[in-house]
Parts: sequence; C-alpha cells; structure tokens
Amino acid sequence: MEIRVLNENEQPPMELLLLADPSRKLVEEYMQRGQCFVAEAADRIIGVYVLLRTRPETVELVNLAVDENCQGKGIGKQLVNHAIHQAKLLGFKTIEIGTGNSGVGQLALYQKCGFRITGIDRDFFVRHYNEKIFENGIQVVDMIRLSQDL
Ligand SMILES: CC(C)(COP(=O)(O)OP(=O)(O)OC[C@H]1O[C@@H](n2cnc3c(N)ncnc32)[C@H](O)[C@@H]1OP(=O)(O)O)[C@@H](O)C(=O)NCCC(=O)NCCS
Repeated sequence: MEIRVLNENEQPPMELLLLADPSRKLVEEYMQRGQCFVAEAADRIIGVYVLLRTRPETVELVNLAVDENCQGKGIGKQLVNHAIHQAKLLGFKTIEIGTGNSGVGQLALYQKCGFRITGIDRDFFVRHYNEKIFENGIQVVDMIRLSQDL
C-alpha cells in the first residue's frame, strides 16, 4: 500500500470522503481548501484524508476514511500517523482532529496515535447538519476536539 498526494488531475474519491462526513458541501469545501492524501493498493484507492490549514502553525486532519471492506487492518492508523508526519514536515506545530461523541473507535484510534482531548464543541452536529446522524446507537450531537503538539 502506498500513501500519496491526490494529483490535481485525479477525481477525488467522493464515496470514501462522504463516509467520513455526510455533508457534501463541507467535503467539497475541505477539498478546495486542503491537501488530499490517498492510500492506494493494487491501483485502487482504499483510504483518504485531508490536511487543512486552520490557524497559524495549526493544521486539522479531516475526512479520514478507509474503505469499509478494508477496515480493521491497521490502515486507519497508518493514515493518521502519515498525517502527523506530513504536518511535521510542513512545519506545523499543532495538529488537531475532531470526532462525534459516538465515535468510540475513532476516539480509541486517535488517542493511540498520541492525540489528547482538548474540548467539546457542543451541538456542533445539530448546528451544521440538517439530518439527525446516529452511530453505535448514539445520536451524534457534540464534537470531541483532540490535538497534539508536533
Ligand atoms: C475510523 C476509520 C478511519 C478507522 O480505520 P481502520 O483502518 O478501520 O482502523 P485501524 O484498523 O487502523 O484501527 C485503528 C485502531 O483503533 C482501535 N479501535 C477501533 N475501534 C476500537 C474500539 N471500539 N475500542 C478500542 N479500540 C478500537 C483498533 O484496535 C486499532 O488499534 P490497534 O492498532 O492498536 O489495534 C474507519 O473505521 C472509517 O473509515 N470509518 C468511517 C469513517 C469515519 O468515521 N471517519 C472518521 C471521521 S472522525
């Protein structure tokens, strides 16, 4: 498997991107503003993430997703560690990430990769999404914010 930048002439892997965030509008905005990386195996894109410059010296890891048939094999962890490495190479001092209150697996993954919880953006998903979203039988309402110093 190779993790590389998505070239300008390539189609973004929209289905995968929407797996991480059901809002096409937000995904398209992230794609315009950020740099997209993809994990490719046997000529197929099986993972994706976007690095988004936010505040000075701070970058956010958004739109992380692994193809449903390839999950649970360590690819998500490789993508998160790749993002941390890239952010360091690009000279950022802090990397941030956010996930829904119901994202038990995501919270485990991010903390295993060195992120610490910094706060809660209460009602983020109520304010920004028209439809109710459920995951693990829990309604997604708050965003848990995590970060790590680079
Ligand atoms: C989140 C996602 C990217 C993870 O990718 P993945 O390839 O399945 O993850 P990995 O196989 O690398 O596993 C990540 C780690 O989290 C751990 N983990 C996952 N769920 C867990 C849980 N419920 N409890 C404890 N640990 C858990 C795994 O054990 C693994 O750690 P390990 O390597 O020490 O065993 C993937 O599930 C996905 O695309 N989900 C849909 C989109 C999404 O939710 N994106 C994130 C938006 S915030």
